[in-house]
Amino acid sequence: MRRSVVVGTGSYLPARVVPNADLATFLDTTDGWIRERTGIGARRIAADDEVTSDLAAHAARRALDRAQLTPEDVDLLIVATVTPDSPMPACAVRVQKKLGITRAPAFDVSAACAGFLFGLTIADQFIRCGTARRAIVVGVELLSRIIDWTDRTTAVLFGDGAGAVVLEANESGDRGVEVVKIHTDGALADALAIPAGGSAEPLTAAGLAAQRNKVHMVGQEVFRAAIKGLGDVAEEVLAEAKITVKDVDAFVFHQANLRILDAVAERLHLDREKLVLVLEETGNTSSASIPIALDAALRSGRIRQGDRVLMAALGAGVSWGGALVRV
Ligand code: COA
Repeated sequence: MRRSVVVGTGSYLPARVVPNADLATFLDTTDGWIRERTGIGARRIAADDEVTSDLAAHAARRALDRAQLTPEDVDLLIVATVTPDSPMPACAVRVQKKLGITRAPAFDVSAACAGFLFGLTIADQFIRCGTARRAIVVGVELLSRIIDWTDRTTAVLFGDGAGAVVLEANESGDRGVEVVKIHTDGALADALAIPAGGSAEPLTAAGLAAQRNKVHMVGQEVFRAAIKGLGDVAEEVLAEAKITVKDVDAFVFHQANLRILDAVAERLHLDREKLVLVLEETGNTSSASIPIALDAALRSGRIRQGDRVLMAALGAGVSWGGALVRV
């Protein structure tokens, strides 16, 4: 059976580290509140001259290097992001140009924090159908540009970064993507959204002044949806694979809030040691969080080749998904 095998991962975090204490200099917040309520200690913020496609191209190049492949070996490029360089063309087009790929189709996927798993699912379908042989899936966000820096309920949560995986078709062996599951329920569409800047609310001077082009969130609704969605999809993936949590070597969940991850770990009765965590250093990097965490764990030896990894994420939409991958 043809499978999509992860042959390389890479990530990129901007150089500038912004600890919680720095936010407390201009927001009514404290390091203690942020750590206790979210588990976040710092985040990376992109330099003024960096754009989303720069972050993505760095991560993709590192993933290609680890896969010992060149850009021309790739026949599909998917970029999961809600913070493209500009509304049109797709961010993937800019990334493609920076990588020096000239013909492979390149397009964006917009599923917020679940975007990487949506991209992984699409790439896996292309590879298993034989439409593509090698694909890069990038999760990238430059969230610092769409955050209202006067709103303490959102500004403390997010960070910038990119992560990428290279997938390659393989007809033998037991490594590869085993299960993917993705879902969307638009009922909570307004709980986490950027209200203005599209056809429903074109951006006006008044909208700009009211920060309607920035992230607005009803935190507790998203919090509850995340605990339920991550737990449900993890169980769905395990059931499909006919395995239990004990058969999984590592859990790479979307890094939004440590309390969400603790609640999911408790529901699934999983060994907390198996949770891969980068949240304290990165904050919530939305679609980038899973590939960043996966890359960090592979590089540190925390996850080894052949391990079974369960990934799950939920974000704006709400959209959520899960995947079981033998890396
Ligand atoms: N610093 C200090 N106090 C803050 C604060 C901050 N940064 N942000 C909110 N508060 C205050 C609130 O104003 C509120 O004060 P009040 O009781 O006087 O009204 C109090 O803290 C509690 O607010 P609440 O919203 O109940 O906090 P919470 O424990 O639910 O945590 C979030 C808020 C945002 C951290 C939490 O809801 C969350 O993580 N939601 C999911 C967010 C998420 O993951 N989004 C991305 C989806 S992938």
